[in-house]
Amino acid sequence: MHVITCTTAARAAAAAASRVLDHLRRQPALVLGVPTGDTPIPMYRALVRAYRAGRADFSRATTFNLDEFAGLGRGDAGSYRSYMQAHLFDHVNLSSRRAHLPDGRSTDWRREVARYEQRITRAGGLDVIVLGLGRNGHIGFNEPADKLQARTHRVALQPATRRANARLFGGHWRSVPTHGLSMGMGTILGARQIILLVTGAAKAGMVARALTGPITTRVPASLLQAHPNVLVILDRAAAARLRAPRTNTKN
Ligand code: F6R
Repeated sequence: MHVITCTTAARAAAAAASRVLDHLRRQPALVLGVPTGDTPIPMYRALVRAYRAGRADFSRATTFNLDEFAGLGRGDAGSYRSYMQAHLFDHVNLSSRRAHLPDGRSTDWRREVARYEQRITRAGGLDVIVLGLGRNGHIGFNEPADKLQARTHRVALQPATRRANARLFGGHWRSVPTHGLSMGMGTILGARQIILLVTGAAKAGMVARALTGPITTRVPASLLQAHPNVLVILDRAAAARLRAPRTNTKN
């Protein structure tokens, strides 16, 4: 695990965007896993800026989102599909045929999760995945539990996760769907490179637990310690509880 600590959240997001752009330049047909949430918004802005400046070409790339709300999809204001359209897809030359999210509206979720997993496999697996970190240690919608699912699955969302998503539903956490469809931990750990982007003081305790605590299904992000190729990009606030940040940069 390689940890980079940047002075601000904006710089951390810029550092994540710059890593993604490097991968895209080296491998134009990149298969990229992507998160939603507040944290990556400045990263997406940087990617859009790079595209507009002629420094990024998404025409051969493929993306797979980590998750989607059960019951929601294209055209639903609170859906992760709408988030991705607003923050990335509508602004770059990524083909809509290669911008994948689990279909939350599917009436047959068992078939849908199997289909999503197959699509990732057929694309050759994930070259790079960018992750955020939930305050409760979740990754995607893989919530703390006694057992974690390996593959894309349907999951009951914990109240903490529904509250964290309330902003997408007019601030009403009870309006947040009760279930989601999410890549499993095995799907995520199958990515050849993982970039974990975490910012803000509210995540500092969980960053320390996930990166330096015991590997446990109660902190799904702790499983990342077992992956051979993880780059963690933090701002100072998120790194505050790490005893000895392994790398400090002036970013
Ligand atoms: C969303 C996802 C989640 C978020 C996490 C952090 O696609 O995968 O695991 O990354 O909940 O969200 P923010 O960035 O809003 O704190």
